[in-house]
Amino acid sequence: MKKFIENLPKAELHLHIEGSFEPAQMFEIAKRNAIDIPFNSVAEVEEAYKFDCLQDFLDIYYQGAGVLISENDFYDLTYAYLQKCAAQNVRHAEIMFDPQTHTDRGISFETVIKGISSACADAKTKLNISSFLIMSYLRHLPEESAFKTLKQSLPYKHLIHAVGLDSSEKGNPPSKFKNVFEASVKAGYIPLAHAGEEGDASYVWEALDVLKIKRIDHGNNALQDSKLIAEIIKRDIALTVCPLSNTALQVVKDIKDHPLKKMIDLGLKVTINSDDPAYFGGQVNANYSAVQEALNLSKSDLYELAKNSFNYSLLPKPKREFYLAELELYYLQATKKI
Ligand code: HPA
Ligand code: ZN
Repeated sequence: MKKFIENLPKAELHLHIEGSFEPAQMFEIAKRNAIDIPFNSVAEVEEAYKFDCLQDFLDIYYQGAGVLISENDFYDLTYAYLQKCAAQNVRHAEIMFDPQTHTDRGISFETVIKGISSACADAKTKLNISSFLIMSYLRHLPEESAFKTLKQSLPYKHLIHAVGLDSSEKGNPPSKFKNVFEASVKAGYIPLAHAGEEGDASYVWEALDVLKIKRIDHGNNALQDSKLIAEIIKRDIALTVCPLSNTALQVVKDIKDHPLKKMIDLGLKVTINSDDPAYFGGQVNANYSAVQEALNLSKSDLYELAKNSFNYSLLPKPKREFYLAELELYYLQATKKI
């Protein structure tokens, strides 16, 4: 099964580039920028990565991102992630980045977007991986700050596909960002948002009805409300589920209790993703393996999950179909159906 997962063509749709920052690379970049970090070894960092909740993690995640200064730093961070994609047969990645985490520290929007997008362009030619960028607004900050970010993004609009909403969920409902999402859609961005990770089902309703999102990041707490489940299915909206993130942040107590199978059985369209792989103990393939083992998923279940990852990506139809054909051929060969 591990081999089947390793070679399975797939897309990753929920990944924060700042959350892909591996401790070893963090030390290297901190050193070249002469920045002190409060850890002496990779082992010390790993010891600090024990979280009780989302906020616990976010405090350390923003601190880690603080060592990224130059365009080159953002390039190296992004290219390292895309190399991991290549090693896992991730054929397409939709990558979130948090501009405000950097602009609030005096790093220009231009530095961030140029570094990230040039790594994506190189990965396309050198690694044969396609990628789209999702500019995520930090929900703990005021809506005006998101508006400022939207404005800064406009000269680089051609490099960005969608807007997202992340950071501390509870107390920062989607409706707080109604106006900036409307303006973002007018500017040509596709609206996406984290909802129902720690927030209750009402946050998911707001994300759908107020922000008019096209995909739900996490969405676990949608299961609290059967009307909501029916509505998500009716609108054909997918959930980007992140199993190892859920256990690391105690959204789910044990991987054996993960509601992924229940979601599938209810008819929800689900995808598997890593969220912040450097912090949560595994890349996307480790996430597939964790749920496969815990929930006893079959090859056919895994095939459906990978199919969803392409079908609910933001790729144009011909490109989606290209990847789906590659996936189908792989599945038929791997299960000896042809
Ligand atoms: N939830 C909310 N905000 C985030 C996350 C997450 O899982 N990862 C990075 N920012
Ligand atoms: Zn996330």
